[in-house]
Amino acid sequence: MSVGKVYLVGAGPGSPDLLTIRAAELVKAADVIVHDRLIQEAALALARPSAERIDMGKPVGRHESRQAEINELLVREARAGKMVVRLKGGDPFVFGRGGEEAEYLAECHVPFEVVPGVSSSLAAPLSAGIAVTHRANASSVTIVTGHECDGKSRIDWGALARLETLVFLMAVHNVANIASRLIEWGRSPDTPAAMIQMAFWPEHRVVTGTLRTIADEVRAAGIQPPATLVIGEVVALRERLQALGASV
Ligand SMILES: C[S@@+](CC[C@H](N)C(=O)[O-])C[C@H]1O[C@@H](n2cnc3c(N)ncnc32)[C@H](O)[C@@H]1O
Repeated sequence: MSVGKVYLVGAGPGSPDLLTIRAAELVKAADVIVHDRLIQEAALALARPSAERIDMGKPVGRHESRQAEINELLVREARAGKMVVRLKGGDPFVFGRGGEEAEYLAECHVPFEVVPGVSSSLAAPLSAGIAVTHRANASSVTIVTGHECDGKSRIDWGALARLETLVFLMAVHNVANIASRLIEWGRSPDTPAAMIQMAFWPEHRVVTGTLRTIADEVRAAGIQPPATLVIGEVVALRERLQALGASV
C-alpha cells in the first residue's frame, strides 16, 4: 500500500466557523482525525461517519511522552495509506508544536502539508475589541509564551518591557510573575492589561486592569486556561471601539 499523507491543520481559536475553507474540506475528506482537546465538536462533526477520531488532548504533566506518542501515531497512520488530519487549535506553528511534528514527519519521509489557522494570539485580543496594532498606539505586537518566567527563560525581559503590544499565551498561572518582571524591567505599572478567556467559545470572558492589578483581577474573576494576556496601551482603546459600536 502506498504511503498516505498527513495534514497539519490549524482549526482556529474555537468556533467552527473560524475554520478556513481548506481546513473544513480536509476534515470532511480525512480517514483519520487526530485532534487536540480544544477543538469544538461541531468542527469534528464535519468528518465522514467512517472517519476515525482520535483525541490526543494532552493531560498536564505528560507533555513529552504524549508528544512522542502523537508523532508515532501520525507516522503509523500515514504508512497505513491513510489521509490523516492533525487538527490543532489556532495556527499549527504558533506555540502548537506543529514545527516538531513537521520535523518528525520529514525525518520519517512521510509526506505532509501544513495548513494555517486563525491564531488565538490575534483572535483573542480581537474578540475583546483590542486592535493589537492600532496605528496611534502600537507599531509592533510581540507574541510570547507565558510558561517561561523562571531563571532559565530565554526571554529578554529588558527588551520586552520596552516593546509596545505584548501578547502572552499560556499565561494564566504566571500572570503575577509576568507583570512583576515587566515592572522590574521598567514598564509602567499603569500599563493597561487584559486577560481574555476562551475567545469564540460560549465561556468567553474578558478581565481588564493594569500591570499592577491584572493578576488580582484574574484571580478574583476565577479566569481559567485557555486564556490570552494582552499588555499595552491598545488595551485602553477597547472601550472606545465598543462605544463606536464594534460587535466584539
Ligand atoms: C499551546 S498554545 C497553542 C496556541 C495555538 N496554536 C494558536 O495559534 O492559537 C495554547 C494557548 O493559546 C491560547 N488560546 C488558545 N485558544 C484560546 C481561546 N479560544 N481564547 C483565548 N486564548 C486561547 C491560550 O493562551 C492557551 O494557553
